[in-house]
Amino acid sequence: MSFDCLLTGGVLPDGSTADIAITGEKIAAIGPKIDGTANETIDISGNLVSAPFVDPHFHMDATLSYGIPRINKSGTLLEGIGLWGELKPQLTHEAVKQRALDYCDWAVTQGLLAIRTHVDVCDDRLLAVEALLEVQKEVADYIDLQLVAFPQDGVYRSPNAMQNTLRALDLGVDVVGGIPHFERTMDDGRRSVTELCEIAEKRGLPVDMHCDETDDPHSRHIEQLIYETQRLGLQGRVAGSHLTSMHSMDNYYVSKLLPLMAEAEVSAIPNPLINITIQGRHDTYPKRRGMTRVPEMLAHGIRVGWGQDCVLDPWYPLGNADMLDVAFMGLHVAQMTSPADMSRCYDMVTNQNAAIMNLEDYGLQVGKKASLVVLDAGNPIEAIRLRPERLLVMAKGKVIAKRERQDTQMSLPARPSQVNRRHKTP
Ligand code: FE2
Repeated sequence: MSFDCLLTGGVLPDGSTADIAITGEKIAAIGPKIDGTANETIDISGNLVSAPFVDPHFHMDATLSYGIPRINKSGTLLEGIGLWGELKPQLTHEAVKQRALDYCDWAVTQGLLAIRTHVDVCDDRLLAVEALLEVQKEVADYIDLQLVAFPQDGVYRSPNAMQNTLRALDLGVDVVGGIPHFERTMDDGRRSVTELCEIAEKRGLPVDMHCDETDDPHSRHIEQLIYETQRLGLQGRVAGSHLTSMHSMDNYYVSKLLPLMAEAEVSAIPNPLINITIQGRHDTYPKRRGMTRVPEMLAHGIRVGWGQDCVLDPWYPLGNADMLDVAFMGLHVAQMTSPADMSRCYDMVTNQNAAIMNLEDYGLQVGKKASLVVLDAGNPIEAIRLRPERLLVMAKGKVIAKRERQDTQMSLPARPSQVNRRHKTP
């Protein structure tokens, strides 16, 4: 057999060693030892190779705007929303597009090749929607970018937001979003979930709502989201993002809620970097973590993915498009420290997130898109521990980024010179 490219000796996330053969944009073969020739052979021996990282929750219209026009002093969600409201009238199509493209470049270097971004539709100009639809087309050869119509200021609370949501969907936005906990009343929040799910059902679209992103134990819009998913037959197409109020809910209520969530096949997307920094800001001590109940959800068979949410924007002053940072923080805050759970966190930022986004062409399997990432790590747990160099990133059969291994030359007193391989397991 003859292939376009052959990657040899990679370590798959399950610990097995494999060669990966690529023809055109697809994976042609994968196995312990592939016989055949290739136009290009790349030795990745001993390095972890996996399908690319996937981020199911991001805000690309706001990214890289940190400090414009000022920073978030209280660190709260509400001040962040207010600050974003100050910035919105100043946004231009060009600036939004340029920041988004810059972020996509960062994503490529980290092996992050699929992103679901919410786009605020409350500005009647819809300029962020139009800018990100252009970005979606321009990066399509290497990043799967999904857009969510997101009425940031409340679909009822903000004038024209419902109409703008429909306009955004007409323009080609892929997913219906919402923010029920930010509507004026609990009843309005509940109604917004119903109406937005009905829109998704009519248009055959998925739903991804910011849901109960609060420390209020009585914020229970997830219950309505589950109910509408069942009623409208949207099973497998609905995700609840954040769900932080579940951290503070009564245990008895949660014991009823999680089986309902599993039954309706509603996925959860916690965003650990943001949830741990934004929630609990009104507490003294003990101070709540604001992380939804991830291990309990997993035990109920609910699909859970880790999302990034924000990088350098009104809500978060850090971030670098590295989904391993997200997995690292999630693992700590959710206390998922067993070997099986740590490996699962890697699976969450790859395969589980891809499933939430319904990426059909994703995965290291024959016939799937030849998109992958090679890391300077021996296994998924080591990858999360080190958050190491992405040595090679491939999209649809083409190498789109590569980096040399960053070893340290050490010259210690009374010791022979040596190379330190960044704390890799011997
Ligand atoms: Fe968000």
